[in-house]
Parts: sequence; structure tokens; C-alpha cells
Amino acid sequence: MPKPIHRVSAVIRTLTDLPGDIRLIELADRDDWDLPPFTAGAHIDLHLPSGRIRQYSLVGDPAVSNRYVIAVARDEAGRGGSREVHDGLAVGDEVMLSLPRNHFPMADEGRVVMVAGGIGLTPFLSMLPALLAEGRDFALHVCNGSVARHGLADLLDGVPPDRLHLHFSDAGTRLDLAELVATLGPDDHLYVCGPERMLDAAQAAGEGLGDRLHMERFGAAILAGQTAYEVELARSGEVIRVGAAQTMLEALREAGVEVPSSCEAGVCLDCKTRYLSGTPVHRDLIMPQGERGEFLTPCVSGCASERIVLDLPLP
Ligand code: FES
Repeated sequence: MPKPIHRVSAVIRTLTDLPGDIRLIELADRDDWDLPPFTAGAHIDLHLPSGRIRQYSLVGDPAVSNRYVIAVARDEAGRGGSREVHDGLAVGDEVMLSLPRNHFPMADEGRVVMVAGGIGLTPFLSMLPALLAEGRDFALHVCNGSVARHGLADLLDGVPPDRLHLHFSDAGTRLDLAELVATLGPDDHLYVCGPERMLDAAQAAGEGLGDRLHMERFGAAILAGQTAYEVELARSGEVIRVGAAQTMLEALREAGVEVPSSCEAGVCLDCKTRYLSGTPVHRDLIMPQGERGEFLTPCVSGCASERIVLDLPLP
């Protein structure tokens, strides 16, 4: 049976710098063939020349089949991926991408109420063309620290003004999530993407919404409080260092160790891996308690001991 293809190569067609230290990157096939299709809210993994792998939402129209566009905010305090995107990529460079995945899909029915914090606007940028094309009812709340750093403003040009609500902390128009939730109708779905504190506030305010509350979390929050440690691969004896600013999965990948993964947010268990000794910090959301003494999820799990021994590499 042929091996499934999980990656595609693409060429950087354009790089555009926007206010707020945001870089817009347009990717295409070298010969302009169609790229694998994606749905509104999807993201890709971008494989950087250093070996880093970072997830970015696709911000273009899902109906456009020969381009992917991503928007990357430079984060000086981050793990280095955004700095590499800003400083290390040029037009014409070839990069590897994962196939698009979607962990933030729109529900098929109901009004779509979106709340975006900062660069958390990106997944909504692929939802907007789909919503407009379908003629669905929606509202978009865009929250930003300052008017001047609202770098993605131009990408909202086609949004009817009565559906777009801008909230700027420096203009005193900060969004009150609890107030917004109180105005939602019984069929409205709330979608939130932004910094961790915004998601925490949405979780608290939207507790009663059940499966009508949808949130996309970014990976950096996973690493809060993590220090460096070592992973030993029991089957080969190899020892891999996991930096404080890395997930276990990233370190394994950088070392060329294949581990299946999908959500990379601790919600699918595709990366579930047996460990033989050491003390994992379980951060997944769904593994049964009874399995935690034997398995961990390297996409989100940390380590409380100096070394953890994994039953890897896979045969
Ligand atoms: S990839 Fe989904 S839980 Fe790790």
C-alpha cells in the first residue's frame, strides 16, 4: 500500500509586513498547481529551515485553491518560530507544510459570533469569506490593545460595518465577554481565539453555552512553568533534550523521531505514547485516569523529573 502523503512543499510567493509586527506570507505550489483543500478555521504546520515546526491558521478564502496565506505576529519573548519567520524567510524560499487540519470548525447551523484577541483574528479570516458566501448571520468582535497595532485591519475590508465590532483597550472600548454572552440567542455559537486570559474569561463567561462555545488555544500556554528535561528512547537508548520552550513532541521531531499527531492540543490522543519511567505532567484533556500511569501525550505533556523514558522509537 502506498505511504500516505502528510506534507506538501510550497514556495513563498509574497511577504508583506503589516502594522503590529505582523508578516503576511503567501504560499503556492512551485508550478501553481492547486494545494490541498482546507475548510474555514483550518491551520497548517509550517516546517522552518531550523527544524522548528509551528502551527498557523490559514487566513485566505477556502474557495481559493492555489494559495495559502498565513499571518505571523513577531513575538520577541516566544520560542523563536515567529522571529525565524520574520528574519529568516525570503520570497522564493521553498518550505514544507503539513496538510491542512481543522480543530476549530464552524458549526453547520446557528449565528456565528466570533471574538478575536490580537493575532487570534487569524482563524476567523478564513471563516469570513465562507460566511459571506453562504449568507449566514454573524458578528465579529475584534479586540486589540491599541488602534495602531491592529495590523490585520485591511483584511476586514469586506465585512459589513454592522457586523464588525472593534474593541481597543487604549480607546477604552474593551469587550466585556460576560455582557456579550448575555446577549446571545439560544442558537448562537460563540467562537473565541486569542490570548490565554481571554480564553479563560470566555470559558468562565460561556460555561452555560455547552457545545456552543468553541475556543482555539495556541501552543505557548502549554509550556507555562516548564523547565528543560531529557527524554530517553528505551528502544534505541538515544537521549534527547527538551528545552524549556519546547514541547516534547517538538523535541522528538527535531531529533527525527516520528510520533503520530493530529490536534497537538491534548484533545485527540493520536500522539499517545507509552512511558516506562519518569514523572509526566499530564496536560491532555481526555485521557482516562486509569491510563495516565502508562501513557502520556507528548504534544502537551511536560515532565516533573529530570528524565523520562519513552517506549520509542515506534517499530
Ligand atoms: S496530537 Fe492530539 S493529543 Fe497529542
